[in-house]
Amino acid sequence: MTHSLRIPDLTIPARPSPVGPGDAGDPALNDVDVIRVRGDARLAGAVHVVGAKNSALKLMAAALLAPGRSLITNVPRITDIAIMGEVLRRLGCGVRFGPDDPVDPMVAHGGVERSRSVLIDVPERPGAEADYDLVRRLRASICVLGPLLARRGYVRVAHPGGDAIGSRGLDMHIAGLARMGAEISGEHGFVIAEAPDGLHGADILLDFPSVGATENLVMAAVLARGATTIDNAAREPEIVDICTMLNNMGARIEGAGTSTLHIVGVPELRPVRHATVGDRIVAGTWAFAAAMTRGDVTVTGLDPAYLEVALDKLVAAGGLVETRGDAFRVRMDDRPRAVDVVTLPYPGFATDLLPMAIGLAAVSEGGSLITENIFDGRFMFANEMMRLGAEIRTDGHHALVCGRERLSGAPVRATDIRAGAGLIIAGLCADGLTEVSHVHHVDRGYPDFVADLRALGVEVERGTAPEEPDLAI
Ligand code: EPU
Repeated sequence: MTHSLRIPDLTIPARPSPVGPGDAGDPALNDVDVIRVRGDARLAGAVHVVGAKNSALKLMAAALLAPGRSLITNVPRITDIAIMGEVLRRLGCGVRFGPDDPVDPMVAHGGVERSRSVLIDVPERPGAEADYDLVRRLRASICVLGPLLARRGYVRVAHPGGDAIGSRGLDMHIAGLARMGAEISGEHGFVIAEAPDGLHGADILLDFPSVGATENLVMAAVLARGATTIDNAAREPEIVDICTMLNNMGARIEGAGTSTLHIVGVPELRPVRHATVGDRIVAGTWAFAAAMTRGDVTVTGLDPAYLEVALDKLVAAGGLVETRGDAFRVRMDDRPRAVDVVTLPYPGFATDLLPMAIGLAAVSEGGSLITENIFDGRFMFANEMMRLGAEIRTDGHHALVCGRERLSGAPVRATDIRAGAGLIIAGLCADGLTEVSHVHHVDRGYPDFVADLRALGVEVERGTAPEEPDLAI
């Protein structure tokens, strides 16, 4: 996509360093990646969304279930996928990234490649260990637990621990696998699961519709002896995607997209070719950005039904939303009206769009009550939003946001993928420049975010800035 905007020099004068150049090893000299945006922006145009990170990662793990070569297309070109490729390589798989098929329409219009295909060649006997070095970089590598236990009867995966959005339990993964006959233990920071005689089917009731636990248990159950029922299963489009891929590999799963999954185990699966479902969180990010900047954006690449609750919120805020096939358009002509948001498992409002909902509330007319029900640390980034002038009070899992006409550009720090994207979008509604640092987080989930922003008319630049040591107590 082309545009005629001239990108002025957004370079922010270098900050004086407290130490001289050459003091190698001083944290002040470690540069961090930053994205700078000029505020008072209005997003207009079209953007195509490629495959979902949170599906592609699990589809790559699911390939482990069948020896031979599986091909997954519409895989986003992001850091997390590269790390997952490394996880699979260390398990003995051949992993080759190539051009996507079909090619991302943005590439056809002269843009950079944002999606790829990945060919995964799985050996007869894959490895059974994922070490901390990789798991700490990619929490989702825990999703090799189910497929490796099913294939090898033994698996040792580093415990991922919590992260910047809160504590991230594994109890439901573990309890479900134990019901299927696995013996689970933990030592030296690893989760070890053993089922030397193979797994058997079981009736499993999840305490909460956990996405990761549902995926791990489905991947374990497809090769188990007998039938498994998972009640209170997650219903996300990414769950439907992995079940579709597994069924095309020869699995017998019924009920994908509902709260009850019935799985009849089969002795073996075959490799497959599968296209990843579109990324509803990236699409939702653009939808909120359009509304916040009183813009007009068309998003293609996914079924808008996956964003129904989020798009309804934008209508309640005064936006015009049109949906058609695999596309939707969001237009906002006036200042948005405040709306309350409650995050819930799908089909509820996605927790990964919470930073965007706070951004919208921060520039809306009136007060919004935002309630987070999935992650206990999701509001941690609110302090950074407040540096942009947002009026936010948090109490437990609630945030009260009083909207103001404009935010005020400032240097802020991305703490996780979605917070980073939310801060960049909020910067579009601020006076002056906003510099978001530590944007490697954003690279984990948004393929070429800067190019997409630019295509939609934003004055944006990517660069580096010296990391200041954080000395505050
Ligand atoms: N939980 C437990 N015990 C478990 C499993 C989960 O207590 O055994 C808790 C978690 O601690 C959390 C809640 O249940 O509080 C939800 O966890 P869930 O398992 O549903 O989430 P996840 O599989 O760890 C995925 C996405 C997240 C997304 C959530 C919710 C991936 C790789 N990650 O995480 O995406 O927020 O589902 O939709 O699929 C992101 O992309 O930025 C991201 C964080």
